[in-house]
Amino acid sequence: MDDRFNTAAGWVLFAGIVALGSSIVSGMYFHADSAEHPEEPGFFIQGEAEDGGAADGPDLGTLLASADAAAGEKVFAKCTACHTIEQGGANGIGPNLYGVMGESIGTGHGGFAFSSALSGHGGTWTWENMDAWLASPRAFANGTKMSFAGLSKPEDRANVMEYLAANGGAPAKPAPAAPAAEEAIEEDAALEGEEAAEVAGAEEAPAAENAAADDGGAAEPAE
Ligand code: HEC
Repeated sequence: MDDRFNTAAGWVLFAGIVALGSSIVSGMYFHADSAEHPEEPGFFIQGEAEDGGAADGPDLGTLLASADAAAGEKVFAKCTACHTIEQGGANGIGPNLYGVMGESIGTGHGGFAFSSALSGHGGTWTWENMDAWLASPRAFANGTKMSFAGLSKPEDRANVMEYLAANGGAPAKPAPAAPAAEEAIEEDAALEGEEAAEVAGAEEAPAAENAAADDGGAAEPAE
């Protein structure tokens, strides 16, 4: 009988040890505390950085090169509560916008009463100015009475500017130079890396390979 009691007690003890052990082991495997969490935001930040890069997107010149007045007319539906666009159209809550591209900022037609924020701004409605204005009227002319939050999508702004330009003309568009140049620089860098590696192969292979690898490592975070 004593033996059986000892055997049973032994099993109970063994079960306790197994339970404790498995809790320790599972703790090691699954990291029940939050020690691992910082690794996940690291991953997401990388994604955000990529999104940010994409949001920087093509420059104004590139966007304008493919801007579409018909698409811009649809965007302009957001403006018609306050603006007319046709030649000789009435001023409403906002001024008539016929021929506004290239005009002096805050001048308008038919004696529209601009805020001093806009009439005192100075300059003309270049594509760049109009892009900045439509992105955020308040940021462009603090104190403006155009109570419109702005068009957050660069494509919408490009299209609506194309529509404005189609109604009364516009100055010359900025050239779409920048993105092509950026890509060219990237390609150049990649080519230089390859060339360096080739040269390295011909001459002192190990040292130059290291140099090429260093270049690659430096080039990616810089982007
Ligand atoms: C809620 C009414 C309202 C809406 C919506 C609105 N605007 Fe305006 N807009 C105004 C007012 C008011 C002014 C005059 C601002 C000032 O004097 O500060 C103005 C001024 C402007 C000017 C300057 C004109 C000039 O001759 O200098 C432009 C360009 C313009 N708006 C474009 C647009 C476009 C494009 C949209 C649509 C994406 C739009 N606005 C939406 C009310 C509006």
